[in-house]
Amino acid sequence: MRHFGLYIHWPFCAAKCPYCDFNSHVRASIDGQRWEKALRAELARVATETPNHILSSIFFGGGTPSLMDPELVANLISDAKRFWRSTNDLEITLEANPTSIEAGKFQAFRDGGVNRVSMGVQALNDQDLKKLGRLHSVDEALKGLEIAQTTFDRVSIDLIYARQDQSEIDWRSELSRALSLNLDHLSLYQLTIEHGTAFGDRYARGLLKGLPSEDRAIELWDITQEMTTAAGYEAYEVSNHAKPGSASRHNLVYWSGGDWAGIGPGAHGRLTIGDRKFATQTELHPETWLDMIETNGSGELERIQLSKLDQAEELLLMGLRLSTGVCLSKLAGLGWAPPETRIDELAELGLIQRNADSIRATTQGRPLLNAVLERLLT
Ligand SMILES: C[S@@+](CC[C@H](N)C(=O)[O-])C[C@H]1O[C@@H](n2cnc3c(N)ncnc32)[C@H](O)[C@@H]1O
Ligand code: SF4
Repeated sequence: MRHFGLYIHWPFCAAKCPYCDFNSHVRASIDGQRWEKALRAELARVATETPNHILSSIFFGGGTPSLMDPELVANLISDAKRFWRSTNDLEITLEANPTSIEAGKFQAFRDGGVNRVSMGVQALNDQDLKKLGRLHSVDEALKGLEIAQTTFDRVSIDLIYARQDQSEIDWRSELSRALSLNLDHLSLYQLTIEHGTAFGDRYARGLLKGLPSEDRAIELWDITQEMTTAAGYEAYEVSNHAKPGSASRHNLVYWSGGDWAGIGPGAHGRLTIGDRKFATQTELHPETWLDMIETNGSGELERIQLSKLDQAEELLLMGLRLSTGVCLSKLAGLGWAPPETRIDELAELGLIQRNADSIRATTQGRPLLNAVLERLLT
């Protein structure tokens, strides 16, 4: 019997943000009935493969799932509850964009079973929201947030920092405003310039000015850690900060080597079936995904069986993102251990800390995680 998460991807947005490389698309119209049929068929297909799994989390991600019809969300939740046994405290999160929110819809999402909302606020200053291509103002975002907080017990926001021309003082003042909102969870991401996005193209042509140097980005990271810790949030993962007991269960499934089913275009999954673990991946393009389900009964592409070594590497990769670190005996159970000399070397540099049966990245090590991993894996 396994606890696991269900990820449902809604690939549509009202507009494409210039920094975003998520599988999100803008469409003039969407055939709701076709989408409902296909998503529910996918859920049923995965359920037949995982009859003994116990559902601990459902996550509607995107794209912009707050654009979904609340009835579709409710139907998917009730299907999932019928297909799997679930934990008493099943966490059901919906990602919401502040422009697509209105009180009536939030209430309907709650009536359908959603109990946690994650809102993409991104910035608390109007000039930067414009630069990020967002369709909402700070005022609108805060109004949406207020409605969210009166409707749901658990509300998180996403903010992007290390933006163009953002000074330390600017970020301190934005973050302190965010901390005053009394949220139980914050996802604070440094702006990444992704290849193939509008920002990526501008950057390649030398037109994206004012991005922070590496040193400045680390200073902004330090400010983030200092202020969130002082406000009582635990940095339970590199970019995720929660009040005690409010870490996202769904995130923890990903980062602690758990199983999750990925439903919808471009969704990844990890499924243990019998004694084998598989990485699953669905077709990325929304309409092709729909066609595949309507003609073949499945939106899944090739399924890859993960070797024990693959699983150990993944566990290390994910585990080092967590404040609790990665359990060495769990790695040993998969037949792999990081070399002792490398652990000692990184510990001496102050980048990781070794406890009785675990290693964890220190606050200094976390922003340098790629280098730490490379050292442990080669
Ligand atoms: C799928 S999106 C969130 C939901 C919703 N569509 C929205 O934008 O409000 C997940 C989050 O990833 C973050 N994100 C996306 N692209 C990013 C980038 N290039 N750099 C940093 N953060 C990014 C944003 O904070 C975003 O809210
Ligand atoms: S950041 Fe959110 S709203 Fe913007 S394109 Fe990406 S998924 Fe869509």
